[in-house]
Amino acid sequence: MKNFFNFKNKNVLIMGGSSGFGAEIAKLFNSQGSKVWITGRNIKKLKNVYKKCKNKSKIFYNSIDVNDQNELKNYVNLLKKKIQHLNVIVYCCGTNKRSEFNKISNSDFDSVLNTNFISAFNFYKLIFPLIKNKNIKTRIINFTSIFSGRTYEKRTSYSTSKAALKALTKNLALEWCNKNITVNCISPGPFLTEINLPVLKNKKNYNDFCQKIPLGRFGNTSEILSSVLFLASDESSYVNGSEIIVDGGWTIK
Ligand SMILES: NC(=O)c1ccc[n+]([C@@H]2O[C@H](COP(=O)([O-])OP(=O)(O)OC[C@H]3O[C@@H](n4cnc5c(N)ncnc54)[C@H](OP(=O)(O)O)[C@@H]3O)[C@@H](O)[C@H]2O)c1
Repeated sequence: MKNFFNFKNKNVLIMGGSSGFGAEIAKLFNSQGSKVWITGRNIKKLKNVYKKCKNKSKIFYNSIDVNDQNELKNYVNLLKKKIQHLNVIVYCCGTNKRSEFNKISNSDFDSVLNTNFISAFNFYKLIFPLIKNKNIKTRIINFTSIFSGRTYEKRTSYSTSKAALKALTKNLALEWCNKNITVNCISPGPFLTEINLPVLKNKKNYNDFCQKIPLGRFGNTSEILSSVLFLASDESSYVNGSEIIVDGGWTIK
């Protein structure tokens, strides 16, 4: 049988690979023989991912804050010295600050918009030289959210940032497809990761959330991997500017 998912020696970059989805995705591609580059701010968390990867010569971590344009620029320059072309990019970094609209501070709004959206805009401006060779295909996957199309109480900053990231996904998909690049997004529903700790720690909030999910539970990070594999693979060649929703049915209710 044909091997549909061959990622051996592919260069895979995961922005936000120090925890949650990004860490799982890093371990997955490392186990497939890819060269995996991960970023995040917290060096301890990055080292932890490194430790859990079996193929130590194929996992590379760097601590950068995506909201610092110089750090972003230096990191991309470093990548340019190490590799010729990126085959897969997963833009996974993200944050959330939950608040009623009337109580959102400008600094919190900026912080969410910057981390979830503006940083991606800056990153894609810089990374283009590493993906523009149209003889080699590139797959880009942005982590949006169910809140990019629908919303929930106290999610103005988050849903605005994710809606913007989804719009960026579609625009890049349109403009870059002539370079053999496809750009898609994955919109997860509620999963058991750090970003949801405030919800997970509040039993009532957590149960309210679960009642709105047809499957009645939060997702495990492993349940996102098949969508990532598909979008990163050769088999998704005619999928461009699309969104895969992985939410236990939250959006159908
Ligand atoms: N979990 C869910 O239920 C859910 C649902 C919908 C969408 N998403 C999206 O999925 C993506 C991954 O989230 P997750 O659930 O895996 O949460 P997570 O465990 O909190 O991961 C977030 C990642 O973003 C990185 N990050 C945050 N701010 C950063 C900054 N300023 N500079 C560099 N890196 C930064 C974090 O690294 P450091 O902490 O090391 O800085 C971490 O690697 C996010 O975009 C999130 O919005 C998650």
